[in-house]
Amino acid sequence: MDIKREWDQLSEWYQSKDSRTDWLVGYPIVLEMLGNIQGKTILDYGCGNGSFSRFLVQNYPLSTVVGVDTSANAVSNAIQKTDSSLPITYHTTHSYQDLKNFSFDHVCFNFVFCTIPNFETITNICSLVYAQLPKGGRCVILDPHPDSHGKKFTSFESESPREKKRGERVHVKLFTSSIDLELDDYYLSEDDYRSALTQAGFSEIEIRAPIVGDVAAENVVLGAERTDPPFIIIQATK
Ligand SMILES: C[S@@+](CC[C@H](N)C(=O)[O-])C[C@H]1O[C@@H](n2cnc3c(N)ncnc32)[C@H](O)[C@@H]1O
Repeated sequence: MDIKREWDQLSEWYQSKDSRTDWLVGYPIVLEMLGNIQGKTILDYGCGNGSFSRFLVQNYPLSTVVGVDTSANAVSNAIQKTDSSLPITYHTTHSYQDLKNFSFDHVCFNFVFCTIPNFETITNICSLVYAQLPKGGRCVILDPHPDSHGKKFTSFESESPREKKRGERVHVKLFTSSIDLELDDYYLSEDDYRSALTQAGFSEIEIRAPIVGDVAAENVVLGAERTDPPFIIIQATK
């Protein structure tokens, strides 16, 4: 099944996933790593149901967000969930080549690269992003940490890949209030992210791997995120 069809089918379920881990040590750090984006245009690439797009404008009401996704169902869910007065527009794209049709000051990819099996697609996306960004523009990537596999976090658990090799299948269970949502991600090492970004032209790269001990986490049931980073968050500046 291609990625688009898979995400069209998963997008309904994906909305009901437990996202506590994401909100503890994922999305807020992406926001921080985007820097001061007030008045800027942010591309939320692979926006899913738009929860991060809405979070961006809640924090920076004078900014504009463009959410794009290859899944028409995800885009339709995002539109339904978003107050039409907010400065967010959503678009269905057919391929990563459509990136050329958007202009933006900064871009984020939340849990998108981990869903792409082909490394060449990832390097092509990074190159297009580099070409489109203005000088000083930031690209922030949030994905499961390459060492998180085999550990159980509050919101998800994944199996260790057979080999820690680029593109290797990683079976993931996302917890929801009913049945778990099971899907496959694809392994990328820290060096893979660095190499895709440097090949594209980025030279300033910062990588973080926060654990919950690093942020306030009252009243939350916690899994391995107390001691192990669930996510890798990478910021590259043009
Ligand atoms: C795991 S979901 C993450 C959704 C959202 N970013 C979030 O944080 O909840 C991955 C999303 O990326 C989208 N996607 C995957 N490959 C894509 C591509 N090449 N172009 C645009 N969207 C893509 C999928 O359709 C899906 O909605």
